[in-house]
Amino acid sequence: MLRLILLGPPGAGKGTQAARICQKYSIPHISTGDIFRKQIKEGTEFGKKAKEYMNRGELVPDDLVLEIAEARLTEEDCKHGFLLDGFPRTVNQAEQLDKFLNEKDLSIDKVLDIRVDKEELMTRLIGRRVCRNCGATYHVINMPSEKEGICDVCGGELYQRSDDTAATVENRIGVYNGLTVPLIEYYEKAGKVAHIDGSTGLDKVFGDIVIAIGDRE
Ligand code: AP5
Ligand code: MG
Ligand code: ZN
Repeated sequence: MLRLILLGPPGAGKGTQAARICQKYSIPHISTGDIFRKQIKEGTEFGKKAKEYMNRGELVPDDLVLEIAEARLTEEDCKHGFLLDGFPRTVNQAEQLDKFLNEKDLSIDKVLDIRVDKEELMTRLIGRRVCRNCGATYHVINMPSEKEGICDVCGGELYQRSDDTAATVENRIGVYNGLTVPLIEYYEKAGKVAHIDGSTGLDKVFGDIVIAIGDRE
């Protein structure tokens, strides 16, 4: 049983590390950003609302996010733990999540705070490519696919996220510093935070995360 939260600015490598963590510990990867992008693709009412905020690099309003996140956490596969990526993102979301879990006598085990400096974040996001079909993440220089524009995993087409432009990335980093960084203190008070240097290589970051999680039965 393992309940984790990944905190970190846009481009810190949350999605990249989440894939590895979830495979190692057999827990579902819950990314609110991925859920929202799926809804946008499907053209749902929620997707239409979320798209405006996301394309500006702003946060989707808490009430909408909480409804979707709680519905996801109620699904069967979350009974044995989960990894949250990109949620919670405001102190209000964290308080509501705690309330939701407390009512079920559950709690978060660890909050992984991945840190990377701004210049590196910009480079990572501008060069990121994502598979339209399976969501696998690449980088044109750091982590290129074998064939340009084609996913190694499923052969799908790689695309650039519409919020990965210089101006929107700048805004997203500002929003993270203003609204999400206070969560580090919130969880530090509960003694749950492990700080991870996210600027090293993929394997080193993953190794540090495994050490921070510690022994699991
Ligand atoms: P979301 O999808 O969560 O985006 P984000 O937080 O901005 O983070 P990213 O997905 O951009 O970065 P990442 O940390 O996952 O990095 P990645 O692993 O891809 O949210 C998008 C939007 O949805 C928000 O702006 C908001 O509007 C809305 N939203 C979502 N959740 C919300 C919530 N709870 N409340 C309100 N609104 C919400 O890596 C990036 C690149 O770097 C890749 O190319 C990768 O290959 C490369 N890379 C990764 N690690 C390394 C490394 N160690 N060395 C070199 N390169 C690396
Ligand atoms: Mg991500
Ligand atoms: Zn793919």
